[in-house]
Amino acid sequence: MDPGAPTSGPGAPAIGRREEWSGKAWGGGGLKVGARCRGCQRSGAIRARPRGSKEVSQPSDFKHDFETVSEYTATMPRIEMPRRLLLGPGPSNVHPRVLAAMSQPLVGHLDPAFLAILDEVQERLRHLFGTVNPMTLPISGTGSAGMEACFANLLEAGDDVVVGVAGVFGERMCEVARRMGARVTRVETEPGTPLDDAAMAETIARIRPTAVAFVHAETSTGVHQPVDAIAQAARDAGALVILDCVTSLGGVDVTLDAWGIDAAYSGTQKCLSCPPGLSPVSFSPRAIERVRSRRSPVQSWYLDVDLLAGYFGEERVYHHTAPVSAVLGLAQALRMVESEGMEARIARHRSAAEALIDGVSPLGFTPLVDKPFRLPMLTSLRLPPAVTRDGEGSLRRGLLERYGIEVGGGLGKLAGQIWRVGLMGENARLINVEALLFALRKELA
Ligand SMILES: Cc1ncc(COP(=O)(O)O)c(C=O)c1O
Repeated sequence: MDPGAPTSGPGAPAIGRREEWSGKAWGGGGLKVGARCRGCQRSGAIRARPRGSKEVSQPSDFKHDFETVSEYTATMPRIEMPRRLLLGPGPSNVHPRVLAAMSQPLVGHLDPAFLAILDEVQERLRHLFGTVNPMTLPISGTGSAGMEACFANLLEAGDDVVVGVAGVFGERMCEVARRMGARVTRVETEPGTPLDDAAMAETIARIRPTAVAFVHAETSTGVHQPVDAIAQAARDAGALVILDCVTSLGGVDVTLDAWGIDAAYSGTQKCLSCPPGLSPVSFSPRAIERVRSRRSPVQSWYLDVDLLAGYFGEERVYHHTAPVSAVLGLAQALRMVESEGMEARIARHRSAAEALIDGVSPLGFTPLVDKPFRLPMLTSLRLPPAVTRDGEGSLRRGLLERYGIEVGGGLGKLAGQIWRVGLMGENARLINVEALLFALRKELA
């Protein structure tokens, strides 16, 4: 094997394509520089035949054959992704230590070494959620899996649920509850404004639902929803409270027990700066009691919290195979959150968001949300007329293609009208604000 043979770029075997090498270059002990892959038409420099072996005619489904393992390894296809600065609504960039934790040697999901990490993750999640709920765990799935877990466990067909809809993710809650067979009553608000406490309280008192659900950090609008009054109204009506903390956890204060929340879910790819794939959730003892007194089994076997308790509780018996590497990444991220401290982390998110708004204002971008309700980790910006006139998509494409910076467009009713700029977790730093401002000024010049 030519030690300099490329494993990526020109000459590398193409991923996802069958490698077929032109027979013309076959000879003299191996493929030569200039051999051409019929699949990708790139030239290659890979010796693909055992040295000294007899010339053979090359079959069309030819498989490479090597003298040593290292020759073989060197030619293995490799995925190469571009570097991006992820300043959209998530995912955010992942700290190299989190990636390193995820590439630790794999162990079994019942291995004592892993179970010790799982204990640690559950305890750190309790701390971050502001709860002592024993049933606090990372669901195997993204934030939407956490959403489904909360609704599937707490609702049965025919139950009433009141959902506060302040954007796309409140809307998603309605759809998930509807599919569970629940009767959904919506309380809506204009995009960019928080739910009205009085309207929520009036509806809750009238419907007296099994559960009340709303979003703490509405990523589609950038609104930071106050929790206290709505949660109190729900408790007064004897309802359980479900809170979406996908974007808020790790960036602003979350205090489930003080607020009286019964079920909450989050995601790892926002302010925790992990890859997407896990959804931290927490169920109060009241929620668990409700699950145990259901008339019908939980509609989802995978997300049934009573079954999950076998693995995530004391017993540690198999339910499904925990995604070990993802949990290691989360453990590393949670250690970093704790070593920074939430107070410093919240302040860092706030100052990055303020710097962003100060920086983009002279360029004609204005915040959609009134100051008291602005999220620090996700800023929604109305676009200047020049940007909407030319199509905001082309400016976002320019940022991505020329500077490697991703920002998010508007969702739902706000599509084409706003941008959503995320400064989440590791990315909530002034240097990233400066990078975006530099690129924007260049693009708009
Ligand atoms: C507030 C909110 N809830 C739920 C979700 C769904 O999470 P996921 O896309 O990880 O399934 C998101 C994702 O952006 C979100 O921002």
